[in-house]
Amino acid sequence: MLAVHTRLNQQRFTPDFTIMPHQVRYHEPRWWKESVVYEIYVSSFKDSNNDGIGDIPGIISKLNYLRDLGVDIIWVSPHYKSPQVDMGYDISDYQKIHGPYGSMKDVDTLIERTHALGMKIIFDLVINHSSDLHPWFKESRSSVDSPKRDWYIWRPARYDAAGKRHPPTNWRSNFGGPTWSWDEKTQQYYVHIYAPEQPDLNWENPDCRRALYDTAIRFWLDKGIDGFRVDTVNRYSKRVDFVDAPITDTADETQLAFQNFTNGPRIHEYISEIRAVLDEYDVFTVGELPNTPDESDVMRFISAQEKQVDMVFNFDTVYLGQTPGDRFRLQNFTKKDFKRELTKWQDVIRDTDAWATVFLENHDQGRSVSRFLSDDPAHRTQAAKVLAMVLGTMTGTLFLYQGQEIGIVNAPPSYPVEEYKCIRSVNHYNKIRRQTGGDPTALEEALDALQKVARDHARVPMQWDDSANAGFCAACVTPWMRVLDTYREINVASQIGNKGSVLEFWKAVIRFRKRYKDLAIYGRFQLIDEHEDLLTFIKEGTDGKVLFTVANLSDQPQRWSLPSSYPMLKPSNLALSTRSQGVDHFSLAAFEGRVYVSV
Ligand code: GLC
Ligand code: CA
Repeated sequence: MLAVHTRLNQQRFTPDFTIMPHQVRYHEPRWWKESVVYEIYVSSFKDSNNDGIGDIPGIISKLNYLRDLGVDIIWVSPHYKSPQVDMGYDISDYQKIHGPYGSMKDVDTLIERTHALGMKIIFDLVINHSSDLHPWFKESRSSVDSPKRDWYIWRPARYDAAGKRHPPTNWRSNFGGPTWSWDEKTQQYYVHIYAPEQPDLNWENPDCRRALYDTAIRFWLDKGIDGFRVDTVNRYSKRVDFVDAPITDTADETQLAFQNFTNGPRIHEYISEIRAVLDEYDVFTVGELPNTPDESDVMRFISAQEKQVDMVFNFDTVYLGQTPGDRFRLQNFTKKDFKRELTKWQDVIRDTDAWATVFLENHDQGRSVSRFLSDDPAHRTQAAKVLAMVLGTMTGTLFLYQGQEIGIVNAPPSYPVEEYKCIRSVNHYNKIRRQTGGDPTALEEALDALQKVARDHARVPMQWDDSANAGFCAACVTPWMRVLDTYREINVASQIGNKGSVLEFWKAVIRFRKRYKDLAIYGRFQLIDEHEDLLTFIKEGTDGKVLFTVANLSDQPQRWSLPSSYPMLKPSNLALSTRSQGVDHFSLAAFEGRVYVSV
C-alpha cells in the first residue's frame, strides 16, 4: 500500500477553520489556465559556448522550437547567483545571474525574445532559504548581536545528562541528517530544512520579508516576467515552539518532522503579503506544495477567493511508491493507485473556484514513461503518447518538462553510481554505505532505487540530435552530466516531422487541447472506472457536449467498447488517437489511447 497516506504527515495544528470553497458550476477562463507551461532546467537544456553547462543563450537559441511545440509559457529553473550545492536552489544573490549561465543582459534578451515570439516567461522563486554564502547569512552568522542575526533561525544547543551537545530538536532534513547545523563561532545552531548550505530565512522577521519582496520578487517583475513557480510555498511559517517530532524511526536519531516545519500558523498571512506584491502586475503563480495531503488545507492555497497562489503542484502521483521522508524506500503500486492519484485533484476542484496543475514530470522526478508505464523499447513510444493524451485532456494548467515531449526515459540499471550527481542521491547512497559498512546487497538495492526515482534522470542533458553529446554541446566537450546512451534513438531531430513520433503527437495534443478547450481544459471531469487496466474519463462542456478519453495503461491488448452510459458517443466521434492507423472499435492495443468528442 502507499505510504504516501501515512497519517503522520497529516497532523495539523491549526484546525480552527474549515474552508468552504466558492461553489461554481464552471471554471472562469484565465490566460494562465489555458497555457501550456514548459520547464527548462538551465544547466541541461542547451550549452551555447561549449563549457559543458547549459546556459541562457542556449535557451534563446531554442525558443522557436518551443513555440513550434505549442508552448505558451516557459518556466526557467533558478538562474540566480549560487554556489550550486542544490543546483541553484541555494541562492547567494537574488539580483545576479549564475556566471556560467550568462549575464543580466542575456536574461533581459531572453525575456524580450520570449515575449516577441508571443510566449510568456516565469522564474523560480526560492525564498524559504538562501545559500549560506548569501551576504545576509554571512552577516547573520558573524555575531549574536548582528542586525541580521534574526533573519535566520538560531537556537541554543541542548545538552544531555552526560553533557553531550545535541541540536535543539530531532527534526530530519529533506536531504537526510539533522535540520540543524552548529556554528562554532557563535555557539548556536541554525535551521535548514534542506542542505546545511541552505539556511532557512526567518519569516517572522518583517525586515527580512520586505527585503525578499524587493530583491527576489519586485526586481524581476519590474523586468517584465509573467509570474513565478514558488519553491516550497508552504514552509515559510514554521512552528516556533521548536518541539521534538514523535519518534517513528528508532534506528535514526533524526525523525520525520514535516508537521513542525510545514504549513505553520502564519503561512497564509505571509502568502497574502506576497500576493499583494504580485497583484500590482498581471502575473500568475504556481506553488510547490509538499506534505499537504488534506484537501481542505490545499483549498486554502488554491481557492480563488482565498487570493493566495493560483495553483499548486501536489505530489500524490509522482511520489507513488515512495515513503514520506525517504523517497528511496520503494514499495509497489498498482494501476489502480496511479489512476486514483492522477485524478484525485480533478475531483477536488470540480465545481469550485479552485484550479489545478496537470503534470507528471519536473526536475525532481524520474521520467514518467519509466515510472508509470514502460520504457521497454518495444513500448516506450506508445507509452509516452498515451500519457500525453491523458494529460492533454485533463483539467488544469498543463506543465511539460524538457525531454518529456520526446519521451526521454530513465538512465538504465547499468548506469554507474558515480554518474548520479544530485545531492539527494549522493547523500542517500553514502548513508547506506555508512550504515551497512558497504554491504554489496544493500548498495545494489540503493542503486536500484536511484535508477527508479533519483532526481538525476530529469537532469541529464537534453537530447537534441544523434551527434556525440546529443547536440547539447560539442562532441569534444565533457558535459556536466553524462548524456544518456538512448540519445541515438530518442532525440528531437529524428522526431521532428516524423508522423508517428512522440514529439509530433505532443504537438497534436496541444493543438487539440486548445481547439477543444471548453472540454479538454475547462470541462467537468468525471472518472469512469470500470476496468482495471484502462483509464477512462468524461469531460463535460457547458453546452451538453462531452469529451471522452480512454487509455490502455497495460502492455496487453484489451477488449473494450464505448460506454453505454453516454449514448451520444459514437465510434465516428473519434477525434484523437495514439495510433496513426488500424483503430479497432472493440479493442485497444497495448498502451493505445483515444479521445472521442460528441457532436
Ligand atoms: C524544491 C525544488 C528542489 C529543491 C528544493 C529546495 O523542492 O524543486 O529541486 O531541492 O525545493 O529548494
Ligand atoms: Ca555553457
